[in-house]
Formats: sequence, C-alpha cells, structure tokens
Amino acid sequence: MALLGAFVYCVLAIWCYCPGLGLPLAPPNSGTSAPAVGQFWHVTDLHLDPTYHITDDHTKVCSSSKGANASNPGPFGDVLCDSPYQLILSAFDFIKNSGQETSFMIWTGDSPPHVPVPELSTDSVINVIANMTATLQSLFPSLQVFPVLGNHDYWPQDQLPVATSKVYNAVANLWKPWLNEEAISTLRKGGFYSQKVTTNPRLRIISLNTNLYYSPNVVTLNKTDPANQFEWLENTLNSSWQNKEKVYLIAHIPVGYLPYSRSTTAMREYYNEKLIDIFRRYGDVIAGHFYGHTHRDSIMILSDKKGNPIGSLFVAPAVTPVKSVLEKQTNNPGVRLFQYDPHGYHLLVAVLHGDKYTYSPVPSLVTGSSSSSVNAPSEEKLMVVFEKATSKL
Ligand SMILES: *[C@@H]1O[C@H](CO)[C@@H](O)[C@H](O)[C@H]1NC(C)=O
Ligand SMILES: *[C@@H]1O[C@H](CO)[C@@H](O)[C@H](O)[C@H]1NC(C)=O
Ligand SMILES: *[C@@H]1O[C@H](CO)[C@@H](O)[C@H](O)[C@H]1NC(C)=O
Ligand SMILES: *[C@@H]1O[C@H](CO)[C@@H](O)[C@H](O)[C@H]1NC(C)=O
Ligand SMILES: [Zn+2]
Ligand SMILES: [Zn+2]
Repeated sequence: MALLGAFVYCVLAIWCYCPGLGLPLAPPNSGTSAPAVGQFWHVTDLHLDPTYHITDDHTKVCSSSKGANASNPGPFGDVLCDSPYQLILSAFDFIKNSGQETSFMIWTGDSPPHVPVPELSTDSVINVIANMTATLQSLFPSLQVFPVLGNHDYWPQDQLPVATSKVYNAVANLWKPWLNEEAISTLRKGGFYSQKVTTNPRLRIISLNTNLYYSPNVVTLNKTDPANQFEWLENTLNSSWQNKEKVYLIAHIPVGYLPYSRSTTAMREYYNEKLIDIFRRYGDVIAGHFYGHTHRDSIMILSDKKGNPIGSLFVAPAVTPVKSVLEKQTNNPGVRLFQYDPHGYHLLVAVLHGDKYTYSPVPSLVTGSSSSSVNAPSEEKLMVVFEKATSKL
C-alpha cells in the first residue's frame, strides 16, 4: 500500500505542477472561458435491496443475505446485504454536494438485488430500474446520464435476449430523457445504443450490451453475432473514425480475465477475442473503456498484438458492499470521477471516492495471450489518483 501511495501522490504532483504533461489550457483569444478539463462521474452496480430493514433477527435484515445473519446492520447497510435505498441516496448526495462540475454521468448497470431467481420477476426488475432512474432524474435534472444494462437488469438474470423484450422496451421508455430517437430505437431492439455527448460535439458514447456475451447466457449459445451487435459496433466505430470523433465505450461485463481468477474470461472466449480484435483495430478511436460487474476497482491495459499498450480499461467499484459469507473481502462502496481533455478526449485522471483502505488495483492484460507480463501504460493514457471520500458511505 505504501508503494502505491507514493506512486499515486507522485502522479498527482506531476499532474498539478506540469502543464507540459498534456493538461490542456484554455484556448487563447477565445472570449468564452472553455474549461481546461472536462469531468464525468461513473457509478455502477447499485444493487438496491428493497427488503433491507433493521431488525433483531439478523437473518431477516435483507433477502440478499440469503438466510445468513447480517453481521452489523446499520442505516447504510451491511456487508452481507445489497444496498439499502439510504446507501444509494448517500452516494448520489455525495456526488450532488461534491461541488464538481461534470458534463455527464455513466451508469454501468446492475440495479436489482442478488437474490434467488424465484424471488424476482420481470415486473420487480423493471420496478427497481425505474426507481433508480427516477431517483437519478430527480436529483440531477439537468445532467445527461448514459446508462448500460447489466446481467441483473433482466429476469431471469443473465438471460438477456437478442431481440426486443419487455425489459428492453421498459428501459427504452425510462431512459428517453437522456437519449435521442436513434439510440432509443436500438436500445429497444437489442439493449445497446450510441449517442454523442450533448456538451462535447466530437465525443460519442457507445453503450454495449456485453451481457449477450456473458458465459451464463444460454440464449446466445452458438450464436456468432447475437443481436448483430458486432456488426453494428464495427459500423458505428467506423463512422466515428470517418467523422473524426472519439468514443468512450461503456458496458457492464468487461472484456479480459476476471480479477479473482486471472485465467477465466467473464465472456465466452470467442466473444472476448472478437471484441478485443475490434477494440484493437479502433484503438485510436476509442479514448476510454468503462465497465462494472466485478465489483472490484481495477484497471486493465489493452495491448496490441506486439504487446504495446494501446488503451486503458477501467472497472469501477460497486456501490453495493455485498459479499457472501465465504468471501473475506467486501467491496467498499465507491463512485469515480474522471477528468478528461475536453478537446481530444484523452483521459487525464481518475479519482476514486470511497475509502483507500480496501483499494486493490488489479492490472492485467486483457488479451488472450497466456503469460505475458503487464505492460506499463503510456503516461498520457493512464493516470490514477485516489482520494479519501469526505463523506462516510
Ligand atoms: C443467527 O444468529 C443467531 C443468534 O446469534 C443464532 O442463534 C442463529 O443460529 C444464527 N443463524 C444463522 C443462519 O447463522
Ligand atoms: C425507491 O424505493 C425506495 C424503497 O426501496 C422508496 O423509499 C423510494 O421512494 C422509491 N423511489 C422512487 C422514486 O420510486
Ligand atoms: C451448440 O453447439 C454444440 C456443439 O456443436 C452442440 O452440442 C449444442 O447442442 C449447441 N447448443 C445449442 C443451444 O444450439
Ligand atoms: C472503415 O471502413 C473502411 C471501408 O470499409 C475501411 O477502408 C477502413 O479501413 C475502416 N477503418 C478502420 C479504422 O478500420
Ligand atoms: Zn453487480
Ligand atoms: Zn453484473
């Protein structure tokens, strides 16, 4: 940890005092003061458990503890439970009161709780997503939010389909205030979309439905291009390339190896390789990748076939603290603030708002190659700063 701390603060110092390092200055002669940095929030894996309540019988505190005794339940939750509404509100209030100016927010999925399939239904899943959407819209009425579907944002969980469904329809309606007609239309059909950021004319968000590639999804078994998303992705990236746009790619299930196994990909390998191939070809177009799902704060480096780093992939920690009885480590709830160059859209800094104490970065290569060492990212593409949260989540 000490070593990491030294690295972190060193980077921060360089970033603060060396404008030559690439921090853009406001353009000269421009009457309007364009901000020197752009900022956006990343929140993920809220996992609201509406059953959470404090009671003497600790097996009854939350359905998500699955019959186990909650360990020390408080108003903001318990490590064996998914998030009470109060915890999620506390995270959102922190964002709202942080005083940070941001141009948008990305929200990478998984709103329902981890409970056995029979305890949920299509309607209850939609209700939770609707609740989270309404909560965000009421707290941040003028902020553009780019949502993503997670493997829990469906019933039965993980089985996201390749054609329109009740859930895709529901989210297409719920997310209309943030998205344009074309985005709503592909969201309704396949659970994915792309759209430009309103405040950044040359920046496009691509929200991929990587749940279609998730190993437990039996709907897509043996399908080479579920929902034709690969074809759509290549076309979308190619037109961004032609139009000289930059892309932030957001999705729930990340490419690459799982942080706790290092040899298993979250997706079926065929899909993983296919995505990596596309990401490499469009490495100059994709200025950043942002994922959720693992609940682990981690960083992955995308390398080209020769092993040179060509991109940074960030997985944000979850808002839910939940762990199973058998797991040693819990997730400390966190949200992340990114800073980027508002002209070229390079990422500059990632700030984690949570508690440094449980931070454990898991850098790993996302390529299929088995035993290469981790390459250092280029300075320009990856600078990470961790800050202790000012509010207790
Ligand atoms: C929960 O805690 C109570 C009181 O300590 C104990 O009697 C009970 O066996 C525990 N239940 C489980 C499932 O661990
Ligand atoms: C969301 O659900 C919580 C309870 O889990 C409730 O208190 C709150 O009013 C709901 N909010 C909306 C906007 O539906
Ligand atoms: C997928 O392909 C395998 C091998 O060709 C076959 O055994 C299996 O039944 C197929 N599964 C589905 C759902 O089509
Ligand atoms: C985009 O598509 C055109 C036409 O198919 C192709 O020539 C070009 O190489 C593609 N761009 C990239 C970056 O692959
Ligand atoms: Zn999750
Ligand atoms: Zn997930």
